[in-house]
Formats: sequence, structure tokens, C-alpha cells
Amino acid sequence: MDFLDREEKEILHRSDDFQKALTQLRYEGKVYRGKNAKAAKQAIQRLGQLAARHDRFQSGVIFPFFEKHFPRYAAAVHLLQAEHDDILKNKKKLASSLQRFLKRPSGPAGQARIYQRGIYLISLLRHHLGFEKKNIYRSIKKELHRKEYEEIKKKMNRWNQQHILRG
Ligand SMILES: [Fe+2]
Repeated sequence: MDFLDREEKEILHRSDDFQKALTQLRYEGKVYRGKNAKAAKQAIQRLGQLAARHDRFQSGVIFPFFEKHFPRYAAAVHLLQAEHDDILKNKKKLASSLQRFLKRPSGPAGQARIYQRGIYLISLLRHHLGFEKKNIYRSIKKELHRKEYEEIKKKMNRWNQQHILRG
């Protein structure tokens, strides 16, 4: 289960980076605008890679396993999957806004919009991870029989080895 803690830490760390970049872009003024917009774009790309990986991991390993062993949580799993789609869609939109901004910077209203949408994405992500930790992963740890627990652990490790994160 170390992998799960590590994954959570990585995503939270990258979302902090992104938040910092967004704040600098919004408040540091024109002189640094280009540099800050570029940093924000890089930060969201990194965060987006992790979010996409999180989606592939859970959709490929966790959710199918969960549906099999905890059918009563089917609705919750659907909701989490919908949240993944929402997170990835918001990330894509924001990355293109930042790309446009780099080519043609908008005024204070446009900058405020990027900032607000970025903060919204970050809170969506943090809330999502918190919910999963409190519910999904706690159930795996507490409610599974030893054999099932070993099975999911093996699946997670295998997936993790095949999808080593670069960069
Ligand atoms: Fe998730």
C-alpha cells in the first residue's frame, strides 16, 4: 500500500506547485507574466500526467476489483469515475487557456479567471483523493480477507511496475 501513499503525496505535491505558480501568475505583475505563465503551464502538465495515471490505475485495477468485492459501493465508484472525467476535462481546458495566454496574454479579468479555474481544479483533486483515502482504501485495508488483500496488493504492484512514472 506504500504505492498509494506515494501516489497521493506526489499528486498533492504537484498540486501545491501548481497553486504556487497560479498565485505568482496572478499577483507578480507584468514583468514576470511570461515566465509565470510558462511555469503554470508546466506545472499543470505535470499534474495532468499524474491525474491521467491515477485514472488509468484506478479504472484498470481498483474499480473493477472494488465492484467485484464491494458491490454495495457501485454508485460511489461511478461517482469517482465521473470525477476523474471532470478532473481530466478541467485540466485540458485550463492547459489550453494557459497556452492561449502565453501567445496572447489577457487582462486582469482573464488572469483572475485562470486563477479561479486552477484553484477549482486543485480543490476538486484534493477532495477526490481525500474521499478515496477515507472510503475506498480504508475498505480495502479493513474489510478484505487476507487472501483478497494479497490479491489486490499483487495487482497494484504489477501495475505499478509496468507503469513506472518518468519525469
Ligand atoms: Fe480517483
